[in-house]
Amino acid sequence: MTHWKTKLARAGGAIDPKTGGVVPPLQPSTTFVRDENYELLIAGNSYGRDQNPSVQLAEQLLCDLEGATASLLFSSGMAAISALVSGLKRGDTLILQSGIYWGTTAWVRRFCQEREVRLLEEDAGNMDTFLKVVHDAEPRLVFVETPSNPWILSCDIQAISATCKACGAALAVDSTAASPVLTRPLDHGADFVIHSATKVLNGHSDVLAGVLCAARQEDDLFVRAARERSQTGALLGSFEAWLLIRSLRTLDVRMSRMCENAMELARWLEDQTSVEAVWYPGLASHRGHEIAKRQMHGGFGYLLSFLVKGDKENALAFMSRLEGIHRATSLGSVESLAEHRHTIEGDLTGCPPNLIRLSVGIEAVEDLKAELSKAFGAI
Ligand SMILES: Cc1ncc(COP(=O)(O)O)c(C=O)c1O
Repeated sequence: MTHWKTKLARAGGAIDPKTGGVVPPLQPSTTFVRDENYELLIAGNSYGRDQNPSVQLAEQLLCDLEGATASLLFSSGMAAISALVSGLKRGDTLILQSGIYWGTTAWVRRFCQEREVRLLEEDAGNMDTFLKVVHDAEPRLVFVETPSNPWILSCDIQAISATCKACGAALAVDSTAASPVLTRPLDHGADFVIHSATKVLNGHSDVLAGVLCAARQEDDLFVRAARERSQTGALLGSFEAWLLIRSLRTLDVRMSRMCENAMELARWLEDQTSVEAVWYPGLASHRGHEIAKRQMHGGFGYLLSFLVKGDKENALAFMSRLEGIHRATSLGSVESLAEHRHTIEGDLTGCPPNLIRLSVGIEAVEDLKAELSKAFGAI
């Protein structure tokens, strides 16, 4: 069987059949013709809110990457998450890992309150406690994020999935920070994988997209998500899908370089006198290191957080002195980005005021060290 790396590099072997171009064509049409018998000229191509050939090709590549039977591309990561979670019904129980991407938590809280879905937010720092809560609550859905953003916590997909199976719950894993290059959650027993494809799957800060992959496409929650996407028009645009295919072709090499840079920076940051702690799954000092070693293959990701010594003012002074590395939200791009999450999340989430989240890009690592060193001079 052809390796996924080869499939990605060749965009699944797609060419432009009309011209012989080795790049898949972009088809922006929002509607597709029928023949004289009123049959669709090309089966499946009807109207742009349901499907698009570029979206279909990108979805196939993502199925190959995740080992999924089906995947759905959405106009953002949040659109993918909300399409899945909104399949829950009144009276269902949802267990949401706490300390994950704040946008997910905020939307899920509002949704569950308005739709009378029982929501339990649980810290996954202690796996035994987390598994007991799952076992006792008999949820319809468990939603985790590993490594989590910005706490960089790793949770054990295999252990959670075994408990979910024993109590009839579905397990969804937001694997944005790991990417399918490092972890394939479906192989560890998850039912659904979600990515903000805005992040490393696209990796160039120029596409907003999300994907939901399923182990079984007939799964009720997946069928509902597909219907939700089609009826509400949350499908990814054709140009964005085309750009995403272009980006997926280099995903593997981008990830290698980003992981290499992140590992080196994490070790280096541990030695800096202005740093109180570094959170990165690849560090032996990290509390999720053993889980990450079992679950992540070929690297530990591009996302790390560190605490600067002192308080919020020290962290903001550091941020103000950064040159080169952009002060900007988001992650997973070829250029490194730094963010002061407390400013974004406020006091609500418990995000430490001295935490800096760093999304490590593919730059020369010596430049990244020099830029960080200069900013540490401000503390
Ligand atoms: C882990 C994670 N999941 C989901 C999302 C939401 O994705 P999007 O911004 O594409 O809607 C984000 C955004 O930062 C994220 O970091």
